[in-house]
Amino acid sequence: MGKGLLLCVICILVTQSKASGMADQRSLVSYLSDHDNTIIPKKESSPVNVTVSLTLIDILKVDKETGQVDIVAWVSNTWKSNFQWDPARFGNVSNLAIPSKLLWVPDIYAYNGISKMEPLSPDLLVIAHTGDVVYVPSIRISFLCDLKRQDISTNATCELKLGSWVYSGYKMDLINPRFDLSSYFSGSKYEVLGVSAKKETSYYQCCPEPYISLKFVLSFKEQSSRGILGINW
Ligand SMILES: *[C@@H]1O[C@H](CO)[C@@H](O)[C@H](O)[C@H]1NC(C)=O
Ligand SMILES: *[C@@H]1O[C@H](CO)[C@@H](O)[C@H](O)[C@H]1NC(C)=O
Ligand SMILES: *[C@@H]1O[C@H](CO)[C@@H](O)[C@H](O)[C@H]1NC(C)=O
Repeated sequence: MGKGLLLCVICILVTQSKASGMADQRSLVSYLSDHDNTIIPKKESSPVNVTVSLTLIDILKVDKETGQVDIVAWVSNTWKSNFQWDPARFGNVSNLAIPSKLLWVPDIYAYNGISKMEPLSPDLLVIAHTGDVVYVPSIRISFLCDLKRQDISTNATCELKLGSWVYSGYKMDLINPRFDLSSYFSGSKYEVLGVSAKKETSYYQCCPEPYISLKFVLSFKEQSSRGILGINW
């Protein structure tokens, strides 16, 4: 996931709006408003499969004392909605960009987060007539990382854990996480040494169902060119 996909989505939308009238899009949105946006789109016994990937844009702030790390990332969520339509009935409109609140969206949150995961980007998602949804908010994420015994000038490693707030693995599965560095800010104060992404499944004594989380691991160091004799300019 990266700029390529976004550009491709935008390009589809531009071609789309040229090829079909606004009236068709409006009737599609009104059709959508009859759809229940509060119900998770799972099928009987099978969970909704959500792919969650991070594209890291920058590491903004690292506070060794409090353990607060702030990053900006595009958090890509893709899944299949149960809202689908026949393009032939709606002037061949096959994709639609809509405010995310019109549709059920995965309730992904950061377990070790310390602020609201609010989008910096326009809060829009793109849904295809097949029900496939792409939702990629750009988010500033503040999270906790124990840096007390780590050396930020050589290699500090932090974990960001993401998962659903309310759904067990029976209702929502998180699959194929990726941690993408291709759009990382070249002028950043921090150099990224390595990233990894992994799915974890936990069981608790209370309950038979699995709980799914995604672990995004980030190793970084402060750019040495920034400081001379340890002084930051
Ligand atoms: C989720 O993925 C599993 C495994 O690939 C599949 O069996 C299941 O049908 C998928 N669920 C939905 C709702 O598509
Ligand atoms: C929709 O696509 C079909 C097949 O390409 C075409 O025949 C039809 O004229 C199109 N309808 C509109 C409203 O563009
Ligand atoms: C940084 O530290 C982590 C955790 O100890 C380690 O896995 C990784 O290989 C280190 N990276 C470099 C470039 O030294």
